[in-house]
Amino acid sequence: MQVSPSLLSANFANLEGDMEWFNRSEADYLHLDVMDGVFVPNISFGFPVLKHVARICRKPLDVHLMIVQPEKFIQEVKALGAYYMNVHVEACTHLHRVLSQIREAGMHPAVTLNPSTPVCLLEDIIEDIDMVLLMSVNPGFGGQKFIPRTYDKIRQLRQLIDSRGCQTKIEIDGGVTLQNKHLLAEAGADVLVAGSAVFCAENPVQVIHELKNA
Ligand code: DX5
Ligand code: ZN
Repeated sequence: MQVSPSLLSANFANLEGDMEWFNRSEADYLHLDVMDGVFVPNISFGFPVLKHVARICRKPLDVHLMIVQPEKFIQEVKALGAYYMNVHVEACTHLHRVLSQIREAGMHPAVTLNPSTPVCLLEDIIEDIDMVLLMSVNPGFGGQKFIPRTYDKIRQLRQLIDSRGCQTKIEIDGGVTLQNKHLLAEAGADVLVAGSAVFCAENPVQVIHELKNA
C-alpha cells in the first residue's frame, strides 16, 4: 500500500517541524489540498505557501486541487515540481484536454470523484488517467467520517481498470484510519490519503508505517 499523508491536518505554525519527521517516515507522497472557497466551502493554502513546503519536502507531491478551472494553474503546480496533479471531474468540462495539458507539462494526471459522482463517468477516459482519487467524504474539511458506499465504488473502479488492462492507481481520500485500511486494501485501493489519522497522532511515523502494511 502507498500512503499520502495530507498536509491539511499539519501544524501550520510549524510546518518545518512537521516536515522533519515526515521526510524520514515511510510516506510515499505528500498530499496537498488546495481549496478556493468556491468549488468547496473552505479555503486552505495556496501557491505562496506551497512553494516553501515544496522546498523542504523530500517526497513526491500529490497535489489535490479542489478549485474551479484547475487548468488555469497547471504552470503553478508544475513549478512546485508536483508528481501528481489531481483535478476534480466535476470542475472540468473538457477533462480530456486538461489531462493532456497536465501530461504535456510533465506531470502525472489524476482525476478526483466526489462521493456522489459515479465511476461510470470515467469509462471513456480511464486510459488517460494515471490515478483516480475517490473522495470518501465531501471535500473541504479534514476529520470527517468515512462514507461506506466508497467500498463498492473502489470495486467498480478496479473492475473498470482491470477490464481495460491499464495501470491506473486508485487513491482514497477522507476518513481513512488504521481501522478501515484493511477493507480499503481488500476492495482494491492502491494509495491511502490520511490527514487527521497521521498528523493528529501521538506517533505519526508509526501510523504511516502501519498504514503502509494495509
Ligand atoms: C478533504 C481533503 C483531504 C483531507 C483528509 O477535502 O481532500 O485530503 O485532508 O482528511 P482526513 O484524513 O482527516 O479525513
Ligand atoms: Zn485531499
